[in-house]
Amino acid sequence: MLLISIEVFGFIIRFIFLKLDFNENYSMYNSKITGLGHYVPDNVVTNDDLSKIMDTNDEWIQERTGIKERRHVSGPDDTTTSMGVKAAKIAIERAGIDKDDIDFIVFATLSPDYYFPGPGVLVQRDLGIKTVGALDVRNQCSGFVYGISVADQYIKSGMYKNVLVIGSEVHSKGLDMTTRGRGVSVIFGDGAGAAILSREEDTSKGILSTHLHSEGQHAEELALLAPGMGGRWVTDIVADANPDDESYLPVMNGQFVFKNAVVRFSEVIMEGLKANNLQPDAIDMLIPHQANLRISQFIQKKFGLSDDQVFNNIMKYGNTTAASIPIALTEAWEGGKVKEGDLVVLAAFGSGFTWGSVIIRW
Ligand code: UT7
Repeated sequence: MLLISIEVFGFIIRFIFLKLDFNENYSMYNSKITGLGHYVPDNVVTNDDLSKIMDTNDEWIQERTGIKERRHVSGPDDTTTSMGVKAAKIAIERAGIDKDDIDFIVFATLSPDYYFPGPGVLVQRDLGIKTVGALDVRNQCSGFVYGISVADQYIKSGMYKNVLVIGSEVHSKGLDMTTRGRGVSVIFGDGAGAAILSREEDTSKGILSTHLHSEGQHAEELALLAPGMGGRWVTDIVADANPDDESYLPVMNGQFVFKNAVVRFSEVIMEGLKANNLQPDAIDMLIPHQANLRISQFIQKKFGLSDDQVFNNIMKYGNTTAASIPIALTEAWEGGKVKEGDLVVLAAFGSGFTWGSVIIRW
């Protein structure tokens, strides 16, 4: 009888603790963003520049997307990795750490220098960091949010103290810069952003929670299908030598993506607020992935936020996919728009579909 009672008691205790573990943050540490940096190529490409090489115009692009100009790499010096390294160097310096204090690298991109290996190891090499782990994240526009979430878990678990997270993209080399590709090519731009996440002992500060989702059912609605091992490989494309081949160009069902984006952005921001018992009016700064100014404005209206509570820079850079949030966050911070004690919300949606949010007490 006594033995059964002890077992039942043990079960109840285990159940309570498991339940608590699932619902609450009982880790000894939080992670905090201690350094931010960004880098964009010098080459500015305006809407008028694009209208000289394809059938488009400034009015259409601004009205539908809010974009006025974007940056494109020119010459061999700016690659996804090299831009990421430049952004990372600034973030490391601002964090006040040495490169050798970095315990782990996370690199998010859809436009890696090489098909493999991914750019994480190239950053380890080019920064001359000791042989720490390097992880490549392939979650497109949500890549930086996924990367932050991964880094946050490593720090919360006590495994690492400082993690470098980079989002960087060179889109311009892979776009169809003719009228055929105008529905996609006018939107995307090149650039990089980086953050250092460091251990924070005060668990009321730093990253409070992260929330990640995916819906692979819509994988082909925004995608680049080739080269892929399940479909057309490089050798097939070369052998066909078909000038009308579009399989290696990005495709986007724009209106379908737009409709899903506004729903998922709203859901995942609300999910993050709820998890922290917060209401939308608690948001000091929302940094949405810069997909389309119209999407950001829709979210702003839905949550009743003022212009000062939402940061947008898509006008200058277009959509830089995994780089868009770290570039925007860096510029917001540099402009004094993100201050100690502020509630900062990052939210992203994109190809996959994947989406996510990060809730931060700065
Ligand atoms: O970051 C990842 C997530 N991505 C997004 O969230 C993107 C979501 N989607 C969008 O932002 C919008 O759907 C776009 C900006 C991509 C497109 O805007 P839209 O209002 O959905 O335009 P549409 O694709 O329905 O095209 C309308 C018209 C078409 O012409 P017709 O068929 O009406 O004669 C297009 O051929 O606009 C034409 N069009 C263009 N015209 C001038 C498409 N691209 C262009 C262009 N310049 N660049």
